Amino acid sequence: MKVEFYGHVRQYHNIKSEIDANIKEVLESGQYVMGPMLKRLEAELAKYHETKFAIGVGNGTDAIWLALMALGVGPGDEVITHPNTFFATAEAIWIAGATTVFVDCDSNTRCIDPAKIEAAITPKTKAIIPVHLYGQCANMKAIRKIADKHKLYVIEDNAQAIGSRGDGFKVAELSDATATSFIIQKNLGTFGDSGALMTNNEKIDTTVRKLRNHGSNQRNVHSFGFNSRLDDLHAGILSAKLKHIDDWSDLRRKWAARYTAGLNGAKNFSLPFERGGGRHVYHLYIIETKQAQQRDTLVKFLSDNGIDAKTHYSIAIHQQAGYPWGKNARISGSVANAEQNAATCVSLPMFPELTEQEVDYVVAKTMEWDRTQP
Ligand SMILES: Cc1ncc(COP(=O)(O)O)c(C=O)c1O
Repeated sequence: MKVEFYGHVRQYHNIKSEIDANIKEVLESGQYVMGPMLKRLEAELAKYHETKFAIGVGNGTDAIWLALMALGVGPGDEVITHPNTFFATAEAIWIAGATTVFVDCDSNTRCIDPAKIEAAITPKTKAIIPVHLYGQCANMKAIRKIADKHKLYVIEDNAQAIGSRGDGFKVAELSDATATSFIIQKNLGTFGDSGALMTNNEKIDTTVRKLRNHGSNQRNVHSFGFNSRLDDLHAGILSAKLKHIDDWSDLRRKWAARYTAGLNGAKNFSLPFERGGGRHVYHLYIIETKQAQQRDTLVKFLSDNGIDAKTHYSIAIHQQAGYPWGKNARISGSVANAEQNAATCVSLPMFPELTEQEVDYVVAKTMEWDRTQP
């Protein structure tokens, strides 16, 4: 049996008529950039996130640095995040010209550990970027409290957790802005690149709207800016898919529960930790091997058995070759949890269109590997 890591084509086939209808609508409209379909999607995204504004941009990375830039965070400023996220979180801070400050992640959720943040704060600190890693919300209540005490901005990196909820809070409720990515492999993904920024702050909205469009919100009138727009074709695809996102999250949760039931009791890896009270939407289902040297043997064993397993992210950002590439960066305290996460993580196939047979096969093979270990 073969089990793929993604189900993009299955998903397309399941809602083909809805996607095709929106693509046709855009093609027939004659408006492909900053057109009516983008407006429609932005309204739908704002409604979905219960924010006043949503701004479509070129990708999730741009959403983060455009938010930083709109808040005036740049050279000389420090921004706190953690090093076991996707590279783009830190990259966006560097693109904005600021210093990336890494603190450790929580040993269970692998999201940023709020208890490590205060020790990293200096007079230069301007913002915190928590990542809702693997589909689970970071502890936003604790983060907001620290941010308020030290007058810092908070930008949520929600590239991996659209549709998730925290323990007593919603995504985008406790931050200044929330960035997301719509690259195809995300829970809500288009057939290409794009992203969005959600905010209740009118100044961020107005500024990012101009920045993404060559510093212009009126024809022929410009200030400094960039080209980072979400095309209407992608907007149409995303608008069709957004209607299904909550059902897809339910399916992800169903497969996660089936994995957890089947893998419970394994001796050579730990299972994902779900913080109570919220809604984890399992962008990724990550198990962690007990020993670092077991990570690659497990991935190879699964691959030899037709299962496409991956690692997210097997090299922490501060451990990448050449770090920090002449950019400003600082590590605050030990980041041992993040390093352990990188050294031991294995991602099992996870997408809504999986079948019971596929999940059970992955469970059987993963448990078979477990029994081979000394
Ligand atoms: C946590 C995180 N942040 C940021 C990004 C960047 O998004 P994009 O690839 O759309 O620039 C991604 C995904 O790619 C991500 O997983």
